[in-house]
Amino acid sequence: MSVLRITDLTRSFGSLVVTSRVNLSVEQGERHVIIGPNGAGKTSLVNQIGGQLKPSAGGIFLGEEEITGLPPAEICRRGIARTFQRNNLFRELSVLENVRLAAQPRRGGALNFTVPASRFAAVTEAALHALALVGLCSVADQTVRNLSYGEQRQLEIAIALASEPRLLLLDEPTSGMAPAETARMIALIAGLPRSLAILMIEHDMQVVFSLADRITVLYYGEVLATGMPEEIAANARVRDVYLGTRH
Ligand SMILES: Nc1ncnc2c1ncn2[C@@H]1O[C@H](COP(=O)(O)OP(=O)(O)O)[C@@H](O)[C@H]1O
Ligand SMILES: [Mg+2]
Repeated sequence: MSVLRITDLTRSFGSLVVTSRVNLSVEQGERHVIIGPNGAGKTSLVNQIGGQLKPSAGGIFLGEEEITGLPPAEICRRGIARTFQRNNLFRELSVLENVRLAAQPRRGGALNFTVPASRFAAVTEAALHALALVGLCSVADQTVRNLSYGEQRQLEIAIALASEPRLLLLDEPTSGMAPAETARMIALIAGLPRSLAILMIEHDMQVVFSLADRITVLYYGEVLATGMPEEIAANARVRDVYLGTRH
């Protein structure tokens, strides 16, 4: 069974159709990359999966459960975590504190003053595990504002992982990065456990082709093509509208 299944998903803003009868699936452990020109509707699609944007029509299923139109916190609770195109970290808190806040709902129960020590420890352990997955344990006690930009983007992934998702959504995880930071981010994503399925938006073709098991091309809100990287690279329509040109 697919981890994620999207059926005939449609969303309009007035007369502008930003998601047009999109069908897409993400399989167990798959790295599925969405590409397409600026304004193609990539972020709008991910926002509908994460619950930040309500679809006009169609369905979104996580395993067997329909999650179409549920609020973001409920979708996160069901097992989908995400990062955003721009980060939203607590800059004055430590790295570990940022991740602990994300691990709290899953591992700690309600936030109050009577949490037993064992649950407090379980939250810290889950947070440290997420930091280890992104290679940030050595800066756990640093204040977020002192991290480099690349480290802050790694931290966002740790925060998403701390909710222990089945599916991770990444919106342009390498945007604005220097080449060395991009290389570190690719290695990080490539090293994430295969128990996790990943759906990511990416514009850097080197990143796309080094990570993707499967690629979906969006164009004016529609799926232009879905296939293995070699199929997409050889697809004449994709080359015409996207790969052959600069965006
Ligand atoms: N809240 C909104 N209201 C109106 N139009 C929007 C809104 N959000 C996005 N759009 C439009 O939807 C289209 C797709 O945007 P987006 O999903 O951000 O594309 P991408 O991520 O592929 O660059 C664009 O034309 C954009 O202007
Ligand atoms: Mg976008």
